[in-house]
Amino acid sequence: MSRVTTLAEFIVEKQTDFPYAQGELSRLLTAIRLAAKIVNREVNKAGLVDILGAVGGENVQGEEQQKLDVFANERFINALENQGVVCGVASEENEDFIPFHSDMAQQSKYVVAMDPLDGSSNIDVNVSIGTIFSIFRRVTDHGPAQLEDFLQKGLEQVAAGYVIYGSSTMLVYSTGNGVNGFTLDSSIGVFCLSHPKMRIPETGKIYSINEGNYVHFPQGVKEYLKYCQDHDPATNRPYTARYIGSLVADFHRNLIKGGIYIYPGTTKNPNGKLRLLYECDPLAFLIEQAGGRASNGFKRIMELDATELHQRTPMFIGSTKMVEEAEAFMAKYQEVPARS
Ligand code: AHG
Ligand code: MN
Ligand code: MN
Repeated sequence: MSRVTTLAEFIVEKQTDFPYAQGELSRLLTAIRLAAKIVNREVNKAGLVDILGAVGGENVQGEEQQKLDVFANERFINALENQGVVCGVASEENEDFIPFHSDMAQQSKYVVAMDPLDGSSNIDVNVSIGTIFSIFRRVTDHGPAQLEDFLQKGLEQVAAGYVIYGSSTMLVYSTGNGVNGFTLDSSIGVFCLSHPKMRIPETGKIYSINEGNYVHFPQGVKEYLKYCQDHDPATNRPYTARYIGSLVADFHRNLIKGGIYIYPGTTKNPNGKLRLLYECDPLAFLIEQAGGRASNGFKRIMELDATELHQRTPMFIGSTKMVEEAEAFMAKYQEVPARS
């Protein structure tokens, strides 16, 4: 039997990539790994917990049953705070960032931005959900985190990753030296390296978009969708539509099989829905590390300026050739007002 590399071993092995970090980044990744296992345990019994919770909506301590996204948020924040590995966290679930005050935290070099539970609308229906995280080196010197530590361009990310709680649970991450995927062996509670050096195919035949919003899409997206659906055997068209509605799950599938995921701006929401700091930047970092491409239709996601914690941006992400095709449509129809 070939030897299995665990995530714990892998993190320690790769520590030498960051001599300046003195093991800090490794401890940070370890904290994320632990929180992921705890959230995984809860996700796995979400159906059961719902049945119990329905009795009165309270647990034995008389506390109200917590929703999974609040639970995930608490677990990740606690793990990061207890380990003293970051000076603060920004989360989708908290309007403001959370600065940490322990001596260790104040000395630490990093901040984390995260979407603790992505795909919330799929929690109750047993469909894959995820966690997304992004790690920046702080720009302030010491003390609790400040807003400017978070408002950095995606290009400044030191590491990023996601956990997918799917038919199996995986943790996929990159520290800027390729992308590696680890599958949780739940019988022993250990993440094992299962997808080393992940690369997204240069092109694919899957397109993922919430087509229910079609009438609100910019003309470039409408024309691109028509192109995806056209019959042209030479270019493998029509492509196949796949949309789960959990960004992490749609992204993970396309990363493995090749494809494009689009969440465009619409007439109602010109910046779309997805958040730059903890959804788009980390996935853009991963896709580029895997040989793919991510843009807002016109500009590379990781070059966008971050001006607000919960800032939104349109996103086109996936196989390089497919994203380039979509961008060409966006450029061509840039000036054309949307029509159905
Ligand atoms: P979250 O659950 O963290 O709020 O994110 C939901 C996001 C993302 O996961 C998904 O791709 C997208 O919302 C789906 O949005 P639509 O339902 O508008 O397609
Ligand atoms: Mn999300
Ligand atoms: Mn979320």
